[in-house]
Amino acid sequence: MLRSIMMAYLATALATGAGAPLSAAPPRSDADEASAKAEAALRAMRPEEKLALTHSLMPLPIGPNPATPPPEAITGAGYVAGIPRLGIPALTETDASLGIGYVFGLRKDGATALPSGLAQGATWNPDMVRRGGATIGFEARAKGFNVLLGGGANLMRDPRNGRTFEYFSEDPLLTGILVGNAIQGIQSNNIISTIKHYALNGQETGRKFVNVKISDAAARESDLLAFQLGIEIGRPGAVMCAYNLVNDAPACASDYLLNTVLKRDWRYKGYVMSDWGAVTSLDAALKGLDHQSAAEYDPARFFEVDIAKAAKRDPRYARRLDDMNRRILWAIYANGLDKQRASRGAPIDFEAHGQLALEMAKQGIVLLRNRQNALPLARTAKSIVVIGGYADTGVLSGGGSTQVHGQDGPAALIPIGGDSGLTALSQQYHRSAPLAAIRKLAPAADVKFRDGRYVAPAVHAARSADVAIIFATKWSTEGIDQPDLTLPSGQDALIEAVAAANPNTIVVLETGNPVLMPWLDKTAAVIEAWYPGARGGEAIASVLFGETNPSGRLPVTFPAAVADLPRPELDGMNTLETNFVGSPPTPDAKLSANYDIEGSDIGYRWNARTGRKALFPFGFGLSYTSFSATGLSTDGRKASFTVKNIGKVAGATVAQLYLVNRGAEQKQRLVGFARVQLDAGESRMVDVSIDPRLLADWGQSGWSIPAGNFGFALGENAERLGPVVTVRLPARAWKD
Ligand code: BGC
Repeated sequence: MLRSIMMAYLATALATGAGAPLSAAPPRSDADEASAKAEAALRAMRPEEKLALTHSLMPLPIGPNPATPPPEAITGAGYVAGIPRLGIPALTETDASLGIGYVFGLRKDGATALPSGLAQGATWNPDMVRRGGATIGFEARAKGFNVLLGGGANLMRDPRNGRTFEYFSEDPLLTGILVGNAIQGIQSNNIISTIKHYALNGQETGRKFVNVKISDAAARESDLLAFQLGIEIGRPGAVMCAYNLVNDAPACASDYLLNTVLKRDWRYKGYVMSDWGAVTSLDAALKGLDHQSAAEYDPARFFEVDIAKAAKRDPRYARRLDDMNRRILWAIYANGLDKQRASRGAPIDFEAHGQLALEMAKQGIVLLRNRQNALPLARTAKSIVVIGGYADTGVLSGGGSTQVHGQDGPAALIPIGGDSGLTALSQQYHRSAPLAAIRKLAPAADVKFRDGRYVAPAVHAARSADVAIIFATKWSTEGIDQPDLTLPSGQDALIEAVAAANPNTIVVLETGNPVLMPWLDKTAAVIEAWYPGARGGEAIASVLFGETNPSGRLPVTFPAAVADLPRPELDGMNTLETNFVGSPPTPDAKLSANYDIEGSDIGYRWNARTGRKALFPFGFGLSYTSFSATGLSTDGRKASFTVKNIGKVAGATVAQLYLVNRGAEQKQRLVGFARVQLDAGESRMVDVSIDPRLLADWGQSGWSIPAGNFGFALGENAERLGPVVTVRLPARAWKD
């Protein structure tokens, strides 16, 4: 199975010119050596030493019951004491997937902010994402951290999920390959990466008690498959279990998720750490949890004080205590944390890291609309008005534990607070102002700025300009879902009014999730720049002026209406007060979310199943050139086809291969993709491998493929598909 995924990856790597192939995991001998070292260290541990690695404390002077951190603990997300006598290093943990965390503003040293997860997802470029992981992993190490709480792998089941921006996509294959590569990059620095939040953490509303109901088959074919692929490719040292419940069991105390799926079926050798404040009982140890994070956030120090007592009276706990240590030690040795100690204060080349963030942002920007080639803008434009979105200041970033404190701090920080008790949160803009970048690329133009707070001055300026560029922002954060898909603060009305005043209106979106665009037909062009990271302003200007040919493709569906979603009302949204922590309002409060409505058919698959059309479908993205993908030939295990740049300028596209039916059954699934860079007129033959799990059903005895006809098609996106090639496949069944 791993082989087929790697083949798919290699095909992509070759198509992107990604360079030397990567190995999916440490060579077998290293992994075996790690097991042997872990076993030897475990044997040498004294009973009290077995309680060191099994829990962390939060090295911060905050929280309900603050711990006293030892002097060597670094301000971050967690600290695990090492065992110096045995040469076992302390574990120093930091957030997160997009760069080194801001930690409620306590860290003032700058870090490189990568573009958001969705922006990375929109690159469809595993090599780029791996390099991003390597970059932030390097910074983690240089700041003295050896565990990076990265690897966000949840699928976008609901576009209103406040953490959508952190994750890669709505599709298990795309997410699995990208997150696996991010983890490989992070761990290439002799540090541990997590993959998180396992599993089905699909909404923030009531996140600590929402009970997700889903059938085993639907879970295995969607969210769990993304984790399975990510773990196979990235081999993360740790899995972070989620806050929510799955089929009545807390994810961090789910025998099914942890013992059956992860450890038995996937043969995972690393350790399971809890999310912060997610452990409610010692019993979680028997259900497969190995490490209690920030123990002071939970009702008790279950994995220190309580487990020590339990291990004395109950051999099941004694065995688990050994197993917990064995797994944590394995992660330490497999990633060489003992050999290459994290070196606090090592120099960071912010220029080079910023360059990578810039390249990633450029590849992730998606051109959504381009009426009569309104873009790229001519550098000779005489007058441009730039409106709104703090475009004179910087680019927006997402909030919560992935918030990165950029070099020299944020350009603007707007506290979110008032009565909501969320004063630790703020909307932050990174120091990369689109306005300055636009001025640089259009030196001959008169470029004005209007902040967009009032409609009249924006309209007045737009009327007399050649081009109006409106920056529309939508901030999102961990802990809070979006009530709907509109742009907040009257921005829709502003865009309508400006577009009515100037037909040459270009909209630049900086959003953490899909949005509706009631004004779409009145605009000349629209680009989705997501949260574009440390050098986002330059990336946006580069696309606007054609220095960069846009090549991003949507990693998520932009629905046409909230009514089209499987759950038009997000569970709890209208009944619970905003509560960042997501705890129940009363101890016996209940909240459930039924994921069996869509089952494994998330996003484009839900639309295909129900005959809906998106505002912009999964996989969509325009370019300043055009491409053809033809000549599909497949035997159901691998496929080949030819991609050609049939336009006039060089550019990159993402070839997408979909399963479209299985006999009479309509069944759409992305089964392969390849990002291809081509000069004008150039063509290339592309090979992809098809992982059989993407054609299969999960049932009681594992995966199975029924004998029959399977239809495949190349797609410009999930809705625009080429001719169907049908292959007859024999029946097949296998375990994992
Ligand atoms: C988040 C995790 C994060 C942890 C530590 C939790 O609230 O869900 O993603 O890694 O905090 O900051």
